[in-house]
Amino acid sequence: MEAHIKTPSEIEHMREACKITGDALKKVEEKIRAGMTTMMVDNIVRDYIHSCNAKCSFKNYQGYPGNACVSINDEIVHGIPSSHRRIEEGDIVSVDVGAYKNGFHGDAARTFLIGDVSEDKKKLVQVTKDCFFEGIKGIKDGSFVGDISCQVQAYAESFGFSVVRMLEGHGVGRNLHEYPSVPNYGRAGSGAKLFAGMTIAIEPMINMGKKEIVMLDDDWTIVTKDGSPSAHYENTVLITKDGVEILTL
Ligand code: MF3
Ligand code: CO
Repeated sequence: MEAHIKTPSEIEHMREACKITGDALKKVEEKIRAGMTTMMVDNIVRDYIHSCNAKCSFKNYQGYPGNACVSINDEIVHGIPSSHRRIEEGDIVSVDVGAYKNGFHGDAARTFLIGDVSEDKKKLVQVTKDCFFEGIKGIKDGSFVGDISCQVQAYAESFGFSVVRMLEGHGVGRNLHEYPSVPNYGRAGSGAKLFAGMTIAIEPMINMGKKEIVMLDDDWTIVTKDGSPSAHYENTVLITKDGVEILTL
């Protein structure tokens, strides 16, 4: 496996796909509320991405049936949108979006609070977001993936939360999933070396309880084994000479 160092023109394409991805999530943030079905959230994402003359990266990816992933409470990731599943007051809802334009993908996720959410769930969502920002601290050309992994894990575990092991961040570009993989746990200085011009998706998935996961019978939805809530926060970032640039904010 080799590092995909993007050229300046490839990076411009990445910027465009990533902006659409981030803006699709802003549309969801404006509209999501209790009473909506997860299919309605999927429709918001699809309509926005199509209005930008882009495609939904996840649709048909390895047979995935949705445009977005919508995962509620103990669902960690890859919740399949359904017109039978309603979002309720007090839920935390992770929405994961990918947009594909001019041959490049953007990938990002947010976890939204629906109405009055319990303090412990709010904390989980905030810490998961902060894990991302802790993870990118000090990261630049010449850093290692493990430097991100280590910072994410240390931050999450300092609150007594656990880090999902079986799912990881990844390089992103012409393909949704590229080299390198970006685990949310590990040692500083380990893993792939990062170079300016690489674009990677960093995506902490943090459980309030134990780290173990279970796949549901739909073969997509991944839930916590202990039924505890889980949150997800993801951005596609560009590694630069002296830092990182977040492309999907
Ligand atoms: N952000 C998720 C990931 O990187 C999205 C993939 S969902 C899939 O794995 F349906 F496309 F697989
Ligand atoms: Co991803």
